[in-house]
Amino acid sequence: MPTVVRLGLLGLGTVGSGLVEIVSKSGSVIESKSGVRLEIVKALVKTKDKPRPLESDKLTFDPDEVFYHPEIDIVVEVMGGIEPAKGYILKALESGKGVVTANKAVLAQYGTEIFEQAKRHGKQLGFEASVCGGIPLIRALSSGMIANDIDDLVGILNGTSNFILTRMYKEKLSYDEALAMAQDRGFAEADPTFDVEGIDAAHKLIVLTELTFQTKATLEDLEREGITKIDPIDIHVADEFGFVIKPLAVAKRTGASLNLRVHPTLVPFEHPLGAVSDEFNAVMVRGDATGEMIFHGKGAGSLPTASAVLSDIIEIARNPTGGIIWNPAASQRFEKSEGRTRYYLRFPIEDRPGVIGRIATSLGDHGISITHALAKLDSSAGNVMIVTHEASESEVNAAMVDIAATVVLRGEPLSLRILG
Ligand SMILES: NC(=O)c1ccc[n+]([C@@H]2O[C@H](COP(=O)([O-])OP(=O)(O)OC[C@H]3O[C@@H](n4cnc5c(N)ncnc54)[C@H](OP(=O)(O)O)[C@@H]3O)[C@@H](O)[C@H]2O)c1
Repeated sequence: MPTVVRLGLLGLGTVGSGLVEIVSKSGSVIESKSGVRLEIVKALVKTKDKPRPLESDKLTFDPDEVFYHPEIDIVVEVMGGIEPAKGYILKALESGKGVVTANKAVLAQYGTEIFEQAKRHGKQLGFEASVCGGIPLIRALSSGMIANDIDDLVGILNGTSNFILTRMYKEKLSYDEALAMAQDRGFAEADPTFDVEGIDAAHKLIVLTELTFQTKATLEDLEREGITKIDPIDIHVADEFGFVIKPLAVAKRTGASLNLRVHPTLVPFEHPLGAVSDEFNAVMVRGDATGEMIFHGKGAGSLPTASAVLSDIIEIARNPTGGIIWNPAASQRFEKSEGRTRYYLRFPIEDRPGVIGRIATSLGDHGISITHALAKLDSSAGNVMIVTHEASESEVNAAMVDIAATVVLRGEPLSLRILG
């Protein structure tokens, strides 16, 4: 006899509808593989008169009908945002339900409080879908690689930014054109700020840091820069120099501290992350026992994300009181800048005698040497692009300030790290 597990959904949008679709199409396959029969009992929604993939008697506008429903075993939070989602998760755990959430924003801010509530009530909380959608990364880190000490983790965690940069590269689109294409194809929200400013990737990096390094982290602990300052010229010159620009998230142990960063980075063509295109995500993790591991796949979308949600549901059905130990300590030091790395610099200049020389001299004065330089000038204005040998962030910042003070620039200079 299968174990019957009854689900209550908080939200029935992209991910919630994907869940309904998989349960209805593949419920019997899931049952034969897992011994678990899934039934969707209720789904909380906000808007009336929207087409829904569930019978109308299963819809509700009252959250109490989900977390206080006597038949519901697991509550699936797929509504997003901080409140009321956080309050609903806490209430569901308090009323004795297992909970699955896809919500990285709420976990990045309130993960510890939520996990304490789960522990207090002896319930499991699944969050596989919160980072990298369909890629089973959370389970790999918390279970498959549990025997490893992990020193660094680098990945492409935001599919929207990766899609935009890929289309700027492959189709020579401007940032605005690539963003419009992402919105058209459902890869970007009408307000794309969270994705293009690196906030979504930062939330995911915090979840991964708290899980992997057992360290409490906040948005203030990490350096964050979005992709909005990338000009098509950066993408094409990076290509000429042998690199592709990718939106990376990095967590790295440096001695006793951790360095967390989210920013666009030049990745060498031959690096595995250089080949991760469009809306795809990938994460490279180095374990002391396993060595380097790479996880690659669809980081978002209705069915990939619902697939991750379902893997948590089956895990909770099999083991209702166990689960991932989330116990980050607040003692870790965060170091804002990582040691030395190569840099790509761009200076938007007016074509005046001596400008390029002054930029090179100023970099030299700060101990920065140049490996590649290129000037692209169109009549009276243009850009100077430089790739440096390894330099520290403080050296680069000081040189940028110096150059901005002594050379007439048409706009803000840009500095991007190059992945070693
Ligand atoms: N979409 C993805 O590819 C993806 C990938 C990974 C993780 N996630 C995460 O999954 C979660 C859900 O994302 P989504 O894309 O499915 O969102 P969505 O399409 O906007 O759906 C949200 C659902 O929640 C309902 N809802 C929102 N606020 C509510 C409230 N206050 N009361 C009742 N119902 C409310 C909405 O109701 P109405 O239908 O009535 O508007 C809708 O059904 C988010 O945390 C997101 O970060 C999404």
